[in-house]
Amino acid sequence: MGFASSSTSGGKGEGRRKEMLGWLEWARGWMNIVGEFLFQRISASHLENPLTLPHLDGITCIVTGSTSGIGLEIARQLAEAGAHVVMAVRKTNLAHELIQKWQNEKQGAGLPLNIEVIELDLLSLDSVVRFAEAWDSRQAPLHVLINNAGIFSIGEPQCFSKDGYEEHMQVNHLAPALLSMLLIPSLLRGSPSRVVNVNSIMHTVGFVDPDDMNINSGKRKYTSLLGYCSSKLAQIKFSSILHKRIPDEAGINVVCVSPGIVHTNVARDLPKIIVAAYRLIPYFIFDAQEGSRSTLFAAADPQVPDYCAHLRADEWPVCAYISHDCRPTNASEEAHSLETSHLIWEKTLEMIGLPPDALENLLEGQEVECRFSA
Ligand SMILES: NC(=O)c1ccc[n+]([C@@H]2O[C@H](COP(=O)([O-])OP(=O)(O)OC[C@H]3O[C@@H](n4cnc5c(N)ncnc54)[C@H](OP(=O)(O)O)[C@@H]3O)[C@@H](O)[C@H]2O)c1
Repeated sequence: MGFASSSTSGGKGEGRRKEMLGWLEWARGWMNIVGEFLFQRISASHLENPLTLPHLDGITCIVTGSTSGIGLEIARQLAEAGAHVVMAVRKTNLAHELIQKWQNEKQGAGLPLNIEVIELDLLSLDSVVRFAEAWDSRQAPLHVLINNAGIFSIGEPQCFSKDGYEEHMQVNHLAPALLSMLLIPSLLRGSPSRVVNVNSIMHTVGFVDPDDMNINSGKRKYTSLLGYCSSKLAQIKFSSILHKRIPDEAGINVVCVSPGIVHTNVARDLPKIIVAAYRLIPYFIFDAQEGSRSTLFAAADPQVPDYCAHLRADEWPVCAYISHDCRPTNASEEAHSLETSHLIWEKTLEMIGLPPDALENLLEGQEVECRFSA
């Protein structure tokens, strides 16, 4: 696996706070998105479908949002490779029905799948704490956390969770960040372990203002596109600092991935005519199985920890980013700004109710108080 090369400043020349994405970065971002749309199938043509996974017996993976789309595929394939899979979902009945279906399809072929369901609603930070406490009480190791669940409420007016946060920011960034932090003790028990965040190429047109994470200060006009892209960029920035602050010896690696442009329920809020057009362009768009490959690669490929260690040793400003074609790639130029990444880290901890030294305390095995309760 090669190093991702960069034409960005890598955090140099900072000091003056940017208020929005420069037009050149914005234009480059859209070129990346269109390029991924047009050429993803060609650039990923070397990949098998489905991806062959190593035997994962003895490995425990938590997959959020695994009742639909990419997450459903990830959970099914990890379980079929022998992993113990925990489906962390809102629709627990649907998850049980899926497990039953997968077991029936597999009947007679080897051992039954080792899957269980635990309720998790990312729109409630209390629910995240409840999930983490339930899992942690087992004192069991966790080897892979896959933060897959996400929303893109295209064209919808701005909505806020009961915790008071813009919903894209909460579901796509804040709640997964809290989950990752609270599961650090379990990830330590499972070390070497990984946190894999299902991110998006759309982060390249995102801009996140640490003083306006909710996009409600009036500085910028809210659109669902801005909400989605900002939340995905915030996730990369937070993950980059998490990756930097976890010492090598802890053996926890943090990775973001782009699944490609995938036909799933994520487009459910699009106007009907666009949803229909989505179905007419199958050549360009991945199906969920194709879209699951980069996440499965990040979760299971043995080269990934070495790549993460390389980035850490090189003091690279961004955590590992794996593209839809399972190759390491560069996140956007804006993702490389260490100054704002540190601010996003601090602001995120404050918003999810954790103290500034939460990570260090969790790594030392100490109890950490969260403002949100189980
Ligand atoms: N599809 C694409 O082209 C694409 C491109 C780039 C990145 N992604 C990312 O890929 C990830 C998976 O999306 P997808 O395309 O597979 O979409 P999807 O089919 O809509 O699946 C999203 C999953 O997230 C779950 N979810 C949503 N809100 C939740 C909440 N509050 N609490 C718990 N779970 C929640 C959904 O569960 P419910 O059924 O209960 O709502 C669903 O299982 C997302 O992070 C998305 O941003 C997708």
